[in-house]
Amino acid sequence: MENLKAVILAAGEGTRMRSKKPKVLHEILNKTMIDYVIDTAKGCGAQEVCVVVGHKAEEVKEAVVKDGVSFALQAEQKGTGHAVMMVGDFIETNGDVLILYGDTPLIQGDTLQKLVKKHRQEDLGATVISATVDNPEGYGRIIRDAHGNFMKIVEHKDATPEERCINEINTGIYIFKGVHLKASLEKLDNHNVQGEYYLPDCLELILKAGGKVGAVTAQDDKEFFGVNSRVQLAEATQIMKARINRRHMENGVTLVDAENTYIDAQVKIGMDTVILPGCVLEGKTEIGEDCKIGPNARLTDMRLGDGVTFQSSTGIESEIGNHTTVGPFAYIRPNCKIGENVKVGDFVEVKNSTVGNGTKIPHLAYIGDTDAGEKVNFGCGSIMVNYDGEKKHRTTVEDRVFVGCNANLVAPVTVKAGAYIAAGSTITRDVPEDVLAVARARQIIIEGWQKKKIKKES
Ligand code: UD1
Ligand code: CA
Repeated sequence: MENLKAVILAAGEGTRMRSKKPKVLHEILNKTMIDYVIDTAKGCGAQEVCVVVGHKAEEVKEAVVKDGVSFALQAEQKGTGHAVMMVGDFIETNGDVLILYGDTPLIQGDTLQKLVKKHRQEDLGATVISATVDNPEGYGRIIRDAHGNFMKIVEHKDATPEERCINEINTGIYIFKGVHLKASLEKLDNHNVQGEYYLPDCLELILKAGGKVGAVTAQDDKEFFGVNSRVQLAEATQIMKARINRRHMENGVTLVDAENTYIDAQVKIGMDTVILPGCVLEGKTEIGEDCKIGPNARLTDMRLGDGVTFQSSTGIESEIGNHTTVGPFAYIRPNCKIGENVKVGDFVEVKNSTVGNGTKIPHLAYIGDTDAGEKVNFGCGSIMVNYDGEKKHRTTVEDRVFVGCNANLVAPVTVKAGAYIAAGSTITRDVPEDVLAVARARQIIIEGWQKKKIKKES
């Protein structure tokens, strides 16, 4: 949107979190609260964002690495108005400024867009979002005149008993014309019960200077829920979780037990995929169509094709092709590229490896630092011995190789296409194409051994 900037207040200490970490860096579904607010501000068209930091400022600055975000320092917290003063010339006289909070992560882009629209259509100097709540305790109250026009905001601590009966509250989210915001901040004082510079007082100052102020009433007061404690963090997580899950269901994904499905904000899921109970889908995970995930699967930064089954397993930073099945109880560690129609079965660990189409690793195997071709069969107990105690080495297993049960391939080693590895072999040298490699002691039979043993013992 043209000429739109956002200021996010995040200087407060947040003592009630009881944490070493700054409040706004606490996470909801693996994303910090401040990141949600920044993304929402940008998503609704703010071209530049300025975050006001104070408590543990350096930590907050380091954690926020986003383009188009600058910081202003509020060394001492003297109120919300004082915090906005700190941004100085970030406020431009020819544009609008949204005011948001680092600890109010549930605010949605649509709501802000409506706010901007009304503000601009009605050419207002400032527009505040209000909400009607059952328990207005602690909030600033919206005071209107007999015609219902906005007059001012009175903080709870400064309010008269009559004013405290009003249950239309200030959500704390506003849009200002830069020129009005600047002028009103210059006039702001701290003559109130808390001795703070109150940002809401700017609205009254704008009215008094001849500007127009509007208030829009929010439909969903959950959006303005501020997080001050771990209990509220858990509540906000539930709300965010429900919102994300609903979006996926509306897009054609079945969540069998949405209560027990945890999907991070960025995750993408294709149509007709079914998510069974107990799944945690994290980071940049992308899942194709017609997949069946879970129960109890954890996917972190994974990319799955279409028709994949991923049961009771963990996958991290890897790719899985169409119609491959994984699990139960498999562990896909970072940097794997697993092809189509592959079977990665129970108690199989795959790490830093490529696995070609149609390959089968049905059970109890370790495939580490390996490049496996197509239609390879890894028997039960196959181990790619990738570590010599000092260094990691790679193993190459070409197309159609059959690795017998309980075989060790000691890296670096290559098994050429079509070769067979006899069960129980420990392979230390390269194996040519289409041969059978046997690397184990030949079986011998000792006749009459049992009888001799009994004699000896008696
Ligand atoms: C504020 C509003 C109140 C509104 C409520 C909605 C004021 C004076 N009051 O009250 O009308 O109903 O929000 O939740 O604005 N912050 C700073 N620097 C400061 C002070 C605050 O960065 O000097 C930040 C805090 O970190 C916090 C936010 O601003 O994220 C709000 O401050 P807080 O003191 O919690 O305001 P409230 O008392 O809740
Ligand atoms: Ca306060």
